[in-house]
Amino acid sequence: MKQPIVSARHFSRRNFLKYAVAGTLAAHAAAFANVTTAWSADAKGGNMLILYFSHSGNTRKVAEQIHGSIGGDMLELKTVVPYPQDYDSVVDQAQREQKNNARPRIATEIPNLEKYDVIFIGFPNWWGSMPMPFFTLLEKYDVGDRTIIPFCTHEGSRFGRSEQDLRRLCPRARLLKGFETRGSRAAGAQKSVDAWLRGLGLLTG
Ligand SMILES: Cc1cc2nc3c(=O)[nH]c(=O)nc-3n(C[C@H](O)[C@H](O)[C@H](O)COP(=O)(O)O)c2cc1C
Repeated sequence: MKQPIVSARHFSRRNFLKYAVAGTLAAHAAAFANVTTAWSADAKGGNMLILYFSHSGNTRKVAEQIHGSIGGDMLELKTVVPYPQDYDSVVDQAQREQKNNARPRIATEIPNLEKYDVIFIGFPNWWGSMPMPFFTLLEKYDVGDRTIIPFCTHEGSRFGRSEQDLRRLCPRARLLKGFETRGSRAAGAQKSVDAWLRGLGLLTG
């Protein structure tokens, strides 16, 4: 799969930074006001699901690093109609879906949701939040009071508004401190991923 080129220049040309970065810091701070940083004993050792969406492979790399370090089940969120590979087309489609508050049809089902205590949710930042298929998924499946741990790859906007959106979609969930990295650094993120997992109490040593 050809990796789209996501340079800072490209982003400014498409007004991404103006649109997506504005308010990111404030949003980030607000989101973390509601985020639990400590791992609680009752969730530890529970069954874990690493659920992720990745269009060009960056987020998948982080998902694999998490999985390599702590195990759990991996599940890729896929849409019924795959997103176009062409960069401009996917950018336009994602923007349209967000503006229309669309719920793209998803092909992925979560088998045995009840068996998981902890769900990692990984995504690329698309126009300042999660790709819309996550909205479809999280409205279809009630995660209840499970523990949700987000991770995100991006090209500068970090989590954007995604944590607030997650909080809204999963109002009873316990949202733990997430991990974010630039997509271009995803392949080399293992050390930072492990440090984050250690901080959550999920990885020892
Ligand atoms: C449709 C689309 C929208 C994007 N919007 C943003 C954005 O708002 N802010 C940002 O920092 N990066 C944005 N990016 C860059 C991606 O978040 C980044 O390249 C990410 O690592 C891609 O992950 P993936 O390889 O798992 O798909 C966007 C990329 C695409 C394709």
